[in-house]
Parts: sequence; C-alpha cells; structure tokens
Amino acid sequence: MTTTSTPTTTAITHISQLVTNDPSLGEGPLGLIQDAAVVIDGDRIAWVGASSKAPATDNAVDAGGRAALPGFVDSHSHLLFAGDRTAEFNARMSGRPYSAGGIRTTVAATRAATDEALHATVARYLAEALRQGTTTQETKSGYGLTVEDEARALRIAAEHTDEVTFLGAHIVPPDYADDPAGYVGLVTGPMLDACAPHARWVDVFCETGAFDGDQARAVLTAGKARGLVPRVHANQLGHGPGVQLAVELGAASADHCTHLSAADIDALAQSDTVATLLPGAEFSTRAQWPDARPLLDAGATVALSTDCNPGSSFTSSMPFCIALAVRDMGMTPDEAVWSATAGGARALRRTDVGRIAPGARADLALLDAPSHVHLAYRPGVPLVSAVWHKGVRV
Ligand code: NIG
Ligand code: FE
Repeated sequence: MTTTSTPTTTAITHISQLVTNDPSLGEGPLGLIQDAAVVIDGDRIAWVGASSKAPATDNAVDAGGRAALPGFVDSHSHLLFAGDRTAEFNARMSGRPYSAGGIRTTVAATRAATDEALHATVARYLAEALRQGTTTQETKSGYGLTVEDEARALRIAAEHTDEVTFLGAHIVPPDYADDPAGYVGLVTGPMLDACAPHARWVDVFCETGAFDGDQARAVLTAGKARGLVPRVHANQLGHGPGVQLAVELGAASADHCTHLSAADIDALAQSDTVATLLPGAEFSTRAQWPDARPLLDAGATVALSTDCNPGSSFTSSMPFCIALAVRDMGMTPDEAVWSATAGGARALRRTDVGRIAPGARADLALLDAPSHVHLAYRPGVPLVSAVWHKGVRV
C-alpha cells in the first residue's frame, strides 16, 4: 500500500541537559536547558523547552536522563582518497617529522582507484562519522591533481555531501615538479573550469613545501571569480602568510592556525573569518598544539574539526577533537562543544545546522552521559548513543 507521506512529529523528552547553542532559549552561550524536550516535525526542529511542557506528538522517545546536543558540524576533511599511510605514521612515531610531501603517496593511490572505490571510501567515513554524531561533513578534493582526477573527486563528493571544496592546490604534483607556475596556471584555468560546477568552496595549502602567498592568492582569487568561496590551509607547519591572506580575501575560514603571530590573532578577531583548529593533525604528527585561548580571548570565532585524511589526521571523531582541545588547547568543555557544533556551522556559513532551535534542521546527538561536559571528561569513550539526521533516527 502506498501512502502520501505526511511528516510525523516526534518528541524526545527527559533530556537531562540540552545544548541548543541559542542563548535566547536557555542559560549561557550554549543556551542550556535542564530536563528538556525537543519536538521534531519532518526534517526540522519544531519546538524546544521544558520536558514537562512538551506538546502532544505522534511519537515519543524518552531520553532517560541523557544529555543532547546539536549534531557535530565537521567543516574540514579530505575523504576522497585511496591507499594507506600506516608506514609513514609508524615512521613519524619513531621520530621522523611530518612534511607536506607525504601527500604524494595518496595522490598516486587515488589516481589509480576506481570511481566505485572512491564512492565506497567516502560513504564508509561519512557513516563512521555519523555514528559518532557528525551530521554535517565538509570534504575536499586534493589527491587527484589532474583536471580529470580533481573533477572526478568533486563529482563523487557532491553525491555524498553538500559541502564540497576544490583543493587542486594541495601540493604541486610530481608531474609538475619543475614547473610550479605551470601547475598554478592549470589549477586557475582548465582545472577550475572543470571543478567549479561541483564545488561550493576553494581551498589552498599555503605552506612551505606547498604554495606560497602569491600562488595561494592567485588560486583563491581565480576561485572567487568563479563564485567559489575561499577557505585556506593556513599556518599549519610554520608561520606564513595564509591567515592574513584568508582575512584579506574574506575567506570563510583559516584552517589549522597552529603558528599565529599577534597580528594574525588580531586580524582573525576583527574579521568574519573563522579560525578552524584541527587537533587531530597535531596529535598524529606529534606537533605543537594550536592555542585556542588567545584567539577566544581576542574575540575570534573558533571552530573545531577533524581534518580526517589518511596522512596527517586519520580520525573522524569530533568527540576525540573536543577532548584534545580541552586537554591541550586551552578550551573549556563548553567552548569546545560550541566550536564543534555552532563554530563549524559558522565556518560553513550555515544557519540551519549547529543549533537546536525551532526551524533548524533536526540534527542531534544523544549522549550516554548526563552532560555534554562528559565529551571531554570521559575521553575515548563512545558516548554518542543515538543520532537524528534530518529528522530521521540513524
Ligand atoms: O590538512 N595540510 C594539508 N593537507 C592535509 C594533510 C594531507 C595529507 O598529509 O595527506 C592536512 O593536514
Ligand atoms: Fe586539511
């Protein structure tokens, strides 16, 4: 029998503590509500308030005193890859430093992979992230580095997520080793032509060993002219021009931000460019942690993200990143949870995700814990016990 599907309403009641990220709905910057309920109507949040006042609905779920928060918004990942870099990780853990050059290993494997294999990889890590509470996932190209391979990566990515980033300027590939200017010409010309229709964002790895400030400017400016919005891999391995360039070009985010000058912090604080910190990368490369404290104290918007990729940060876990940010980057648990949800939404310029409020997309995670603070207090424990994505329990 076929029925016309009318959206059904579901109330999730007896949430011990709800993070709404809407200060008008509850206490403090996280808009916390104790003993809360959330009503979902179709794919949207319809109502939020005290559990005792929840309106009648078609279905009810008793959260049994668990905490709930918006689904994580992971604004930076590299899921279009093939191959494995276990040996490189092992070598690093025996003392070898990380360098941008390891990317070449993944480029060779990705070029050799079938479309089916790439689809399967993206689907696998999106599902892995979803189980851990991530309901919005950005992902990038950057391991193809030919016109065909970059366009293919973005076409495939766009079948899995709306947040797709063109990163043709990840490194200069071996085939252009003697002609970096020629490669920038390819990225800003034919590659951009083939890729722009499949992407929302343009990114560049602005770093020693990848692209310098002038090359990065050329890539981002060309992308902007094609309607893509810039985001920048900036100041990861050392101090460089990436952050200032991101701010100057109105980038949505400057990502990594591990090595910042006072002027960089000031520029971020005075701008709409979100500082996206990626602690999985410092963990997996045994590098110095980015310091969130001066950014937050200066008034910059900070996001947390996984940077999930096979080289520098092979984790899809936002709870892991929250725990690292609290332990090692000067963030309070409240700040880290905000940055992993609302902060990620800001970095993707989204207002429909990263918050639990009427009208927002019904994306939420239920924790096997009485409070969101447990995400940092109980590191490594799989606390996410249920996830709703676009109103559907997954
Ligand atoms: O964000 N920094 C550049 N790109 C990735 C690393 C990619 C790789 O090592 O494969 C990053 O850390
Ligand atoms: Fe990255």
